[in-house]
Amino acid sequence: MTEQARTPEMLPQAGHSLMYVVTRPEQIMVRGKGSYLWDANDNRYLDFIQGWAVNSLGHCPPVLVKAITSQARQLINGSPALLNDQMIAAANLLTSVSCLDKVWFGNSGAEVNEGAVKLARKYGAERLNGAYEIITTRNSFHGRTLAMMSASGKAGWDKLFEPKVPGFVHIDLNDLEEARAAVTDRTCAIMLEPIQGEAGVFPATPEFMTGLRRLCDEKGILLILDEIQTGVGRTGKLFGYENYDVEPDIMTLGKGLGGGFPVAAFLAKDEVCLFEAGEQGGTFGAQPLAMAAVNAVMNQMINKNIPERARKRGNSLKRKLKKLGKETGLMNIRGMGLLVAADLPHDKGADVVAYAFDHGLLINAPRPNTIRFVPALTVSNAEIDEMLEIMLDALRSV
Ligand SMILES: Cc1ncc(COP(=O)(O)O)c(C=O)c1O
Repeated sequence: MTEQARTPEMLPQAGHSLMYVVTRPEQIMVRGKGSYLWDANDNRYLDFIQGWAVNSLGHCPPVLVKAITSQARQLINGSPALLNDQMIAAANLLTSVSCLDKVWFGNSGAEVNEGAVKLARKYGAERLNGAYEIITTRNSFHGRTLAMMSASGKAGWDKLFEPKVPGFVHIDLNDLEEARAAVTDRTCAIMLEPIQGEAGVFPATPEFMTGLRRLCDEKGILLILDEIQTGVGRTGKLFGYENYDVEPDIMTLGKGLGGGFPVAAFLAKDEVCLFEAGEQGGTFGAQPLAMAAVNAVMNQMINKNIPERARKRGNSLKRKLKKLGKETGLMNIRGMGLLVAADLPHDKGADVVAYAFDHGLLINAPRPNTIRFVPALTVSNAEIDEMLEIMLDALRSV
């Protein structure tokens, strides 16, 4: 989280056996509860990153702990080729609360995005005369497998790990004209995040989203929403698409779906589900432990109306950040629900993040001049105020 502020030479001795992919601070995290995380020296951190928007109900929520411990006593892994009771319940639940009809469970966002792309290519092969191209947006983030790095529009990735997987065409978010011009007889789908999260929290406009839906209908191609970050209550609705007047043909979920337990899914409308036996699968998919996590998290989301709570808390966070702007220069406060970002009046985001960390607050800077806030959806007003106090101190000090 303080990537730019520390160098590989400063890697803590404790992590010397880990392959270097990121520079981590030296503190070792040992436990968490709700909005807080503790290190081995019992220092407490107010967590507004939550494992990159993963712990949707906060650290170690009792409903999730109970569900996975009791499931662990029953059955941890049956077989991906056998039904289990938790998998049936999770699939029924997700399809009953969304506009989609069928679901496939995997383990990570990148994996289910790959599945969504495979399904769209299958649709293209069978229903669209072999069309295979997928239009995605510049600055988008869809994961780190080779195909998802090719699908993503992240700056610098176009030259990394070449050759790229072909078949992705990039357009600007919110440019409907460019989208229309990019559709050819090779196109089978348009894929986007309702809010570009990793890019720095940039929402699709309602006009763009409804325009894309119309364009897809007109051309007979599919609309895929990557809701890995926006799904499961994050934007103040159970799914991000509910903020718009559209329904996707395929939707992917991950991150908050297991409340911290690694699990992901892609869902599709019946008419798109064209896989034949053996074309999609995975060793760990839909195993009972992960499915118990999904059931616990989703039931809690729905029964306690957590998305609505996230909507209210998010509005209050944005109001308070705006107020802080007068003194600190924070600007362009944006986002939906508890996927919120603000721009700094300078490019010292990494220093702000490092200062906050040293003072017991976890926030992240997706860009040098942007701070992102993705707390637990159960965050309290008092915790938001505590975060703002440390932020204010950080902004004054950096
Ligand atoms: C929108 C989006 N899609 C896909 C991914 C990749 O998910 P995972 O890291 O679980 O593969 C992410 C992760 O940040 C994401 O934000």
